[in-house]
Amino acid sequence: MSSFSAVDIITAKRDGAALNDEAIAWMLGAYVKGEVADEQMSALLMAIFFNGLGSHELLTWTDCMIASGERLNLKGLSRPTVDKHSTGGVGDKISLILAPLVASCGAAVPQLSGRGLGHTGGTLDKLESIPGWRALLSNDEMRDQLEGVGAVICAAGQGLAPVDRKLYALRDVTGTVESIPLISSSIMSKKIAEGTKALVLDVKVGRGAFIKTIERARELATTMVSLGTSHGVATVAQLTSMNQPLGRAVGNALEVTEAVEVLQGGGPLDVRDLTLGLARIMLELVGINEDPAAMLDDGSAYEVYRAMIKAQGGDPDAALEVARFRDVVLAPQDGIVQSVDALNVGIAAWRLGAGRARKEDPVSAGAGVMCLVREGDYVEAGQPLFELFADDDDHLSRGRETIIGAVKLGEEPARQEPILLEKITAG
Ligand code: URA
Repeated sequence: MSSFSAVDIITAKRDGAALNDEAIAWMLGAYVKGEVADEQMSALLMAIFFNGLGSHELLTWTDCMIASGERLNLKGLSRPTVDKHSTGGVGDKISLILAPLVASCGAAVPQLSGRGLGHTGGTLDKLESIPGWRALLSNDEMRDQLEGVGAVICAAGQGLAPVDRKLYALRDVTGTVESIPLISSSIMSKKIAEGTKALVLDVKVGRGAFIKTIERARELATTMVSLGTSHGVATVAQLTSMNQPLGRAVGNALEVTEAVEVLQGGGPLDVRDLTLGLARIMLELVGINEDPAAMLDDGSAYEVYRAMIKAQGGDPDAALEVARFRDVVLAPQDGIVQSVDALNVGIAAWRLGAGRARKEDPVSAGAGVMCLVREGDYVEAGQPLFELFADDDDHLSRGRETIIGAVKLGEEPARQEPILLEKITAG
């Protein structure tokens, strides 16, 4: 490949020019090899942050990210493959229910997930609160489990789009995470490399999401749908509200318990409804005509969940850790709940010990928040609003300080916002 100058590429993007295929391939390749320095890639990322990438540039950028590593081969399975990705929300335990549910309807769900950083929890952290469960599987183990059980949730291997790990770490410390082309290429390169044939994207929007406005969420969703479609992955996105936490439980073991309640046909209605909505889209994408609600209610989805946990060494019957220190936050007055701030609750759960500040930090399995009221509820003074759980007093008081004020009370009937906001399809 011909050689380029990193500085020329940076200045071209800085000045608003489009980069050609060769320049993009050279820059990403040289960065992986260590021939382009972090400060040069940081400058290019900032130029992309401000000037964006055109649709052809974005396609090439994503292709080069995919080509930086391996592509899993999921061909030859007896079931059609379909996956889901969520951009991250507070109390978002949907994957734990959705993967076995869709598998119980006849599809194979290869969920390669991550750990949480910041105020939204990671699916792997949640499952690791189950004694014995392991996140690391070889590609062969993953394939066998997909064929045998139909669902796998495991850590994305180091081999998938490895340049993304380097770029993401750099974006994290250079203020360049919130760029639509960079987010969409990061997410979609990993999903395309994973080998799924179909994908549903749950794009969260609101106070507890990293995308705050519907316009930005729409733009992100449209960009990702078009990237998936142009790579032969049937992709649909749903925009969903993340103003108040999803369900009642926020925290690792607390969320596993709530997910199991939904898998057994109960649990909070918002969690059940959102899961069923996503399941219906996934099944439609792969042409399976089954009713997922029936699979929740008759125990079929729960059976697949148990098999999925056991296949990865976990004991679905084991008691989960319960944090020793508890506290309850009470309503200061009577009133109607106007809002429950998902961001506040997410940060509180994080400070209670459920999340991590740096990627090498441990998380507490039992820490977190139970949200005891929802928007629109009438509460009386002294009624419990939140129950807090932590492993020590220090974490408990930090969580308590954060969550005070997360519930706004008023006299007006609260606006009841739907969770499902919009569906974005290709074309
Ligand atoms: N998740 C990712 O994998 N990448 C991003 O850029 C943002 C969220």
